[in-house]
Amino acid sequence: KTNAPLKNKKVLVTAGPTREHIDPIRFFTNHSSGKMGYAIAEKAAELGAEVTLVSGPVSIPAPAGVKLISIETAEEMKQAVLAEFSGTDVVVKSAAVADYRPLVTHSEKMKKKDGLMVMEFERTTDILKTLGEEKTHQILVGFAAETTDVEFYATKKLQAKNADIIVANNIKQEGAGFSGDTNIVTLFSRDGSIRELPLLSKDKVAEELLMEIVKLQSKKDQR
Ligand code: PMT
Repeated sequence: KTNAPLKNKKVLVTAGPTREHIDPIRFFTNHSSGKMGYAIAEKAAELGAEVTLVSGPVSIPAPAGVKLISIETAEEMKQAVLAEFSGTDVVVKSAAVADYRPLVTHSEKMKKKDGLMVMEFERTTDILKTLGEEKTHQILVGFAAETTDVEFYATKKLQAKNADIIVANNIKQEGAGFSGDTNIVTLFSRDGSIRELPLLSKDKVAEELLMEIVKLQSKKDQR
């Protein structure tokens, strides 16, 4: 049990960026490499969980023993996550989901013209918020990628999205956030506890986060 505290638990992890298509050639995206989410998926599998990884386009291989569902757009991520949600015990949303997508996806290449080009965008669905509204027994973990007022926004997200833990990273800090092999995070929990972690490898951050999740899960199981 101690080696496999997540045995018989289903863990769903989202990772990577989404791509929102403008035309057959161009898309709107962000800097997520998937490293943070892939580290969480790998660690959860090591702890005995049955892991599904819903991932945007990244260039790293899926960890062994993890079920990979590859998607491109925020809408596809939403469909994949919602299809798995009811049978899942823990959801960790480390993906950097686009908040906006082009209002129109052109079926042919957009031709360049002189002067300014203005494009309209519409909001994508907030997947984390949707899960927070639909959750029954699941432990819901969200991320918050911020550049200012990290604690304020993280606490706000904890409430607004009905999450159990928010993992906040200040992506302007050296060694934190997108692309690198390290992160600096603070864990904000529903019970009001705040745990500030030092600069750690993403593998170690994953381990610390999963230990928090294991604690929450065993409290739930005791009820
Ligand atoms: O992939 P790496 O290169 O390793 O980088 C890791 C990371 C910086 C991407 C990761 O640590 C991180 O912060 N992920 C969340 C990025 C993000 O989109 O944050 P946000 O504050 O915009 O979103 C808050 C939460 O809502 C996130 O859990 C996000 O998955 C979720 N969300 C956002 C928009 C949306 N439409 N649906 C969502 O579910």
